[in-house]
Amino acid sequence: MLVKLAVLFSGNGSNLENILEKLHKKSFGKNSFEVVLCLCNKKEAYGIQRALKFGLQTVLIEHKNYESREDFDRALVKEIQKSGADLAVLAGFMRILSPVFTKNIKAINLHPSLLPLFKGANAIKESFESDMKVAGVSVHLVNEELDGGKIIAQKAFEKDDNMKYEDFEAKIHALEHELLPQSIIKFFDE
Ligand code: GRF
Repeated sequence: MLVKLAVLFSGNGSNLENILEKLHKKSFGKNSFEVVLCLCNKKEAYGIQRALKFGLQTVLIEHKNYESREDFDRALVKEIQKSGADLAVLAGFMRILSPVFTKNIKAINLHPSLLPLFKGANAIKESFESDMKVAGVSVHLVNEELDGGKIIAQKAFEKDDNMKYEDFEAKIHALEHELLPQSIIKFFDE
């Protein structure tokens, strides 16, 4: 089957670029993948430039132009449904989504910790500073709960006491770049 993906992002967009490099217009087993929509809520997001390298224009829907979370989510839902995407991939999309979104769109989210630990926007720092001896990244189904929803894939590594924060963060991002495309492929294999 041809799997159509919508990728939502808010900033740097390295995970968007990674998906475009590894999955866009490529086949794995019986499925081929196409990113049919790049969607962003911030006009200064660097990911917009990354998408252009692949000839893709990003649709900009700025949350600040909407009066309520639900109105913003309605605009997202409309655009995603219009694109015909089979799955929305939240790759650094920094918005809390209401039931208007979660009840209408099948979506997965990438999170830089071993969920259910360290939910929220400071996951990397909190996981670095914790006493835990392992850290990692998660991909989960999106529901109304922030960073909640069934976990579908994780990758972990052992923390090294001598690791600097910058190295820890780089390790997290490297694991994200492995896990997210693998999870998307697996999601449609099953
Ligand atoms: C990633 O660490 C992701 O887990 C988090 O935001 C970051 C996005 O990075 N939710 P990028 O924009 O894909 O480079």
